[in-house]
Amino acid sequence: MSESPIEQVKKFVFSDDRNKTEKLDIYIPELLQASYSFYTWPCAPVLAWFLWENRSELPGKRVLELGSGTALPGILAAKCGSHVTFTESATLPKSLAHTRRSCQLNQLVVDEQVRVLGLTWGLFLSNLDCIGPVDIILGSDCFFDPAIFEDILVTVSYILNQNSGAKFFCTYQERSTDWTIEHLLNKWKLRAKVHDLSNLGAHSGVEVSDIFAGHTIHLLEIDSKA
Ligand SMILES: C[S@@+](CC[C@H](N)C(=O)[O-])C[C@H]1O[C@@H](n2cnc3c(N)ncnc32)[C@H](O)[C@@H]1O
Repeated sequence: MSESPIEQVKKFVFSDDRNKTEKLDIYIPELLQASYSFYTWPCAPVLAWFLWENRSELPGKRVLELGSGTALPGILAAKCGSHVTFTESATLPKSLAHTRRSCQLNQLVVDEQVRVLGLTWGLFLSNLDCIGPVDIILGSDCFFDPAIFEDILVTVSYILNQNSGAKFFCTYQERSTDWTIEHLLNKWKLRAKVHDLSNLGAHSGVEVSDIFAGHTIHLLEIDSKA
């Protein structure tokens, strides 16, 4: 008989220190089971804080999150008024189910308020046509293995080309100084801007070192050169 893996729920609090009227609690379920998508990676709070600090831009935006996993950034965007489509590898049904569980725990009704779809990087299947118009693509810790860097950027390039003015905001954790996406950005006619995160959290009275938890994490804004 197989037992269900144990679920632990982490609470993330986003607030504005200047006027305590704005506060958002997000509950993220994690499973004690080996898989990339059942754990909230250090990149996720960094991207979520960046979105929180730019939340005035979020209402009404059509947001697509890639490799959502526990989905903290996408959930924050949905709570701040964006229309969010969460995606996970179509080959990982348990990961898709876990993303749905994260939505449910935050009172986001799947197929009514948000969507959860299978989208595997680098694969051009019919589900890509189901996405619809997109303003913002989000990706937290998608660049975790150089073997999949091009698959992600091919997919991102395709979506950006279909959606004039759309942007891809992604956080990546520096795991090796040898890893780079520069040549792939050129190959797929993309350009990247690095955001300065040294004051992240300052408006909310949160220490930037607490958000980064000792990791070296960068945030890129990628758009199409065309
Ligand atoms: C390092 S985890 C990051 C998860 C989450 N975004 C976070 O930051 O906590 C990478 C995520 O990408 C998903 N993933 C891996 N390979 C993928 C692929 N080829 N296509 C789509 N998603 C993939 C994994 O299932 C996992 O959820």
